Amino acid sequence: MPQPAQQHTDVAPVRGAPSLSPLIGNYFVAAYPPFSCWTPDQAPDADVALNAPAPDAPVGIYAHIPFCERKCDYCYYLSRAGAKSDEVNAYLETVVAELALYARRPAMDGRKATYVYVGGGTPSTLNPDQIRFLLDGMKGAVAWERDAEVTFEVAPKTARRAKLEALSACGVTRISMGVQSFDDALLRMNGRIHLAADVERAYGLIREEGFDWVNLDLMVGLVGETEESWRRSVDRTMELAPDSVTIYQTEVPYNTQLYRDWKDDRLPSGLIPWEIKRERLAYAFGRLEAAGHSVASAYAAVRDPSRHLFQYQQHLWRGGDMLGLGASSFSYFGGVHYQNDARTDAYANSVRDGALPIYRARRLSRDERIVREFALQLKWGRVDAAAFRRRNHVDVRDVFAEPLRGLAAAGLLAAPTDGEDAEVALTREGLLRVDELIPRFYLPEHQEARYW
Ligand SMILES: C[S@@+](CC[C@H](N)C(=O)[O-])C[C@H]1O[C@@H](n2cnc3c(N)ncnc32)[C@H](O)[C@@H]1O
Ligand code: SF4
Repeated sequence: MPQPAQQHTDVAPVRGAPSLSPLIGNYFVAAYPPFSCWTPDQAPDADVALNAPAPDAPVGIYAHIPFCERKCDYCYYLSRAGAKSDEVNAYLETVVAELALYARRPAMDGRKATYVYVGGGTPSTLNPDQIRFLLDGMKGAVAWERDAEVTFEVAPKTARRAKLEALSACGVTRISMGVQSFDDALLRMNGRIHLAADVERAYGLIREEGFDWVNLDLMVGLVGETEESWRRSVDRTMELAPDSVTIYQTEVPYNTQLYRDWKDDRLPSGLIPWEIKRERLAYAFGRLEAAGHSVASAYAAVRDPSRHLFQYQQHLWRGGDMLGLGASSFSYFGGVHYQNDARTDAYANSVRDGALPIYRARRLSRDERIVREFALQLKWGRVDAAAFRRRNHVDVRDVFAEPLRGLAAAGLLAAPTDGEDAEVALTREGLLRVDELIPRFYLPEHQEARYW
């Protein structure tokens, strides 16, 4: 779940409401400074970054497809159901045109994409022609490295052989499928349109098409989940033998049906507390490790870490440039964070007029860049202090000495190592709650900032 395209909403973040214990205390950190600090008046800073000479550095591309067959109760991403084919076609044209605008900027001169990620929403709602139009169009605007990692998100019910053939022919190397659970009752209760049998069918088709990296997405803590149903989902996931598994702890943002149902007391059962979600996640990681997977981050276990390096994170979390295409997508480019307009009409009008559809931005100071990179890398569970020093000329153990002492005292930090191998590493307990811990590393002026 790379999160470059949440809706920007006026609602408060989920933390900060003391009476709502299952709701508070955690939110997925995808950017720093928090989005609430990005402002429209800084949008010209993105232009400055894009007009600078091209660095000799990789760039990645994210494209957001905001269409789904139905909106899931817990989902806070920008997506909607019921779009007509014409509307989807027009949107895809805009995405390709947006990338063509970038391609003309000096900072993109001669650069190829190291990774491409098509997420949503549900990109697999596109038909084969639309898939080809989008991927070939993107390639035509900005070339891809020969070994580029190209991810496409697929929802089980929408998987068809012809679509998968188009994906393979267009160079997709990694399929990420949103499974969430193998329990049909749970899937229905949380507003998913697929059942476990759809996952099995889709998985078979994906493997038949020969994709060599298939990732399955699960959610822990869905409404109605029990210890037993979670364990069954983990068992079933492992039987399918995916190359990697991502597991997200269910969040309950204010702008979701799940939140509204909870507030109106309409849920069939209570929300699952964070401690239980963490215990269940720990169980799943333990099972995956016993089966030969490695825990690669707070959310992911991979079968072969040498082959399944998730380039998206490898680059973005180390300060690499990423262009976010599509309504509400966010980008990080030349040390500037920025986000596109989330209103699809305004987004399209802007691109049609030849202007990048940037809604708000934030140029990071040097200190902010250091916090951003450290915070994001901590989500891997370990930060390589020597590599960090080579890149940023600071020792993270000095810069973050005080919050690190606090983590050590709470048993959330592993014993320090020194020398060339020096790293800051979290214990497993620390890793399971890393998003909750990250704000401790924020600069004082952002400690109390809203996330959104
Ligand atoms: C936005 S979806 C895109 C993929 C596809 N639409 C699907 O759902 O199968 C990416 C992932 O975000 C995760 N997600 C969405 N809402 C979430 C929430 N409230 N809490 C935790 N994870 C969430 C789910 O695991 C989902 O697979
Ligand atoms: S299918 Fe995926 S993107 Fe669409 S509403 Fe459900 S979780 Fe969100």
